[in-house]
Amino acid sequence: MFRFAPSSTRLYRFMPATERISHIHNMVSPQKAHSTIAFIGGGNMAEAIIGGLVSSGHPSSSISFSDLAQERRDYMKTKYPSIKSSADNLDVVADAEVVILAVKPQVLHNVINGIAPALQARKPLVISIVAGIAAASINRWIGGGESAIVRCMPNTPALVGEGAAGLYATAAVNEAQMGLAEKIVNAISKQTVWVDTESQIDAVTAISGSGPAYFFLIMEAMENAGVEAGLSKEDAKALTIQTCLGAAKIAQNSDEELATLRRKVTSPKGTTEAAINAMEDGKIRNVMASAVQAAQQRSRELAEIFGEQ
Ligand SMILES: NC(=O)c1ccc[n+]([C@@H]2O[C@H](COP(=O)([O-])OP(=O)(O)OC[C@H]3O[C@@H](n4cnc5c(N)ncnc54)[C@H](OP(=O)(O)O)[C@@H]3O)[C@@H](O)[C@H]2O)c1
Repeated sequence: MFRFAPSSTRLYRFMPATERISHIHNMVSPQKAHSTIAFIGGGNMAEAIIGGLVSSGHPSSSISFSDLAQERRDYMKTKYPSIKSSADNLDVVADAEVVILAVKPQVLHNVINGIAPALQARKPLVISIVAGIAAASINRWIGGGESAIVRCMPNTPALVGEGAAGLYATAAVNEAQMGLAEKIVNAISKQTVWVDTESQIDAVTAISGSGPAYFFLIMEAMENAGVEAGLSKEDAKALTIQTCLGAAKIAQNSDEELATLRRKVTSPKGTTEAAINAMEDGKIRNVMASAVQAAQQRSRELAEIFGEQ
């Protein structure tokens, strides 16, 4: 049922970012400046995307969300008074051009069962940020045919405006919808990549989805090593975090390969070389490769478990 995206859509994926942005402006709702967007689930990720959309100029009156928890609805209404909220998922789907699924994986099947007739009738673009549930499962739960579904794998730095995300579109998603999905996701993501096959979403999960925890572990180890080396915990932590941030900024602002950047700061017979040699002796590359493979494998397993519900 799911094919590669049509060639015009695939071409869009390979456009440079600047070209894509003007393309998006030309094709997203030409008569209407802003699409109506409904979030199912008003949790952390929905809040981050809504916050990003509103600060990028999307009117909050065109955004709605549903959440079962009264407390959560009240909290969001205090933050964004013009947003429509409801305890009933069907209420918000009713007039939406885009429906964003933002609930936990274990409740998604039930949630879709409740809104499937409305999705079938209106055929909005469905964006799922739910980890580990395949587009084919979502399509089947909606009730067949070919729904326009974009899977998105964001990450937690989205909560501080520094997210990275991977996107995958099913064949039914047209170019304008791809542009719209990217525009929405860019509200929380500074790096958004389209992948061609859905299985690559497992790789995105293993790199940027789970990745923040890898860096927390590395920073934790560095902080502890700094204390062993004689620094206070506070100083070791502050120096570690800033060094991580500084290295990331250099890498982000440079066109050079990461290996070249490393070599440039590693003088022969110097202190950094001594440290790098110790890391290579400790097989740091193998450790990272095993970690990414383990996350990718787990992502596939979870897709099987949840998809069979
Ligand atoms: N956080 C991340 O970094 C991250 C990264 C990548 C992907 N994701 C994915 O994003 C999705 C949302 O994550 P999150 O961190 O935003 O989770 P969250 O904070 O738990 O948000 C989910 C919200 O949906 C509500 N909900 C539960 N059942 C519902 C229903 N039947 N109808 C409407 N709303 C319902 C939940 O209410 P209750 O709390 O009362 O159940 C909760 O407020 C998850 O599938 C996760 O896998 C998250």
